Amino acid sequence: MSSITEQPVPAFGTFNYIVEREQEVKAHTGSIAFNGLSDPILLAQDMSGGCGGKIWKCANVMIDYFIWKNDQLNGTLFKDQKIVEIGSGTGLVGLAVAKLCPGIKQMVITDQLPMMGLMQENIKLNHLEQSVTADILNWGEVIPDISQVLNADVILASDCIYLEMAFIPLLETFFALTNKPTSIIYLTYRKRRNADKLFFQAAKKKFIFKDVTEDPKMKVYMRDKMHLFSVTRKPLNQQQLQDLYKLKTL
Ligand SMILES: C[S@@+](CC[C@H](N)C(=O)[O-])C[C@H]1O[C@@H](n2cnc3c(N)ncnc32)[C@H](O)[C@@H]1O
Repeated sequence: MSSITEQPVPAFGTFNYIVEREQEVKAHTGSIAFNGLSDPILLAQDMSGGCGGKIWKCANVMIDYFIWKNDQLNGTLFKDQKIVEIGSGTGLVGLAVAKLCPGIKQMVITDQLPMMGLMQENIKLNHLEQSVTADILNWGEVIPDISQVLNADVILASDCIYLEMAFIPLLETFFALTNKPTSIIYLTYRKRRNADKLFFQAAKKKFIFKDVTEDPKMKVYMRDKMHLFSVTRKPLNQQQLQDLYKLKTL
């Protein structure tokens, strides 16, 4: 369903056998072309650090939508905006957005420590050191006030809803990152297990989920049980506003 074509180039590193995962890939570096993106993305993939070390289909859904949207907006998508990607894995989504939208203010791609090397390698491969930085962000951990991941305009999360024990930590991170009233999350999700509904039940108490119905490819990826949502925080109710006011005046 995706518009990508990949031409593998010589492999790097070693491939350690990991428990069976959906479409396991061997470590290699390749060139990924997207219809509508002028240059291909050079991408190292290596699953020895975790499942994020390969390209997941949800990433293509998100990138294809942003390419279409940027075209609709005459190349102004995310202009002057700070973008933080969580669970970036290889960093493909963040790197593609940084290439597509040279007018962004900043792009921070994040994941757990074992993915840092791969993300940094991929930033370098694409010569995006000026606009993209990689950082560690473990879902659920308290984010220090000085962290570069705070005050983002846009948060990207591609295929991050798949691990039941991470549902609440993931929501806590969504909440912490949407500290600006105008922050918006773009989230791609692939339905694999019924337990995923627990995530959405909990999430809908604090956030509003909207299907991105304008995406011309929506019907295609939905056949593969994939979804693209825009997500915003629910406005605070009267009691929550009063509590916040009390805290600020203490
Ligand atoms: C299915 S992969 C998706 C990777 C990438 N976003 C994509 O779409 O290709 C899920 C990613 O979430 C990351 N992840 C899982 N649990 C995490 C946690 N507790 N904190 C931070 N990242 C986590 C994994 O390391 C992995 O890179």
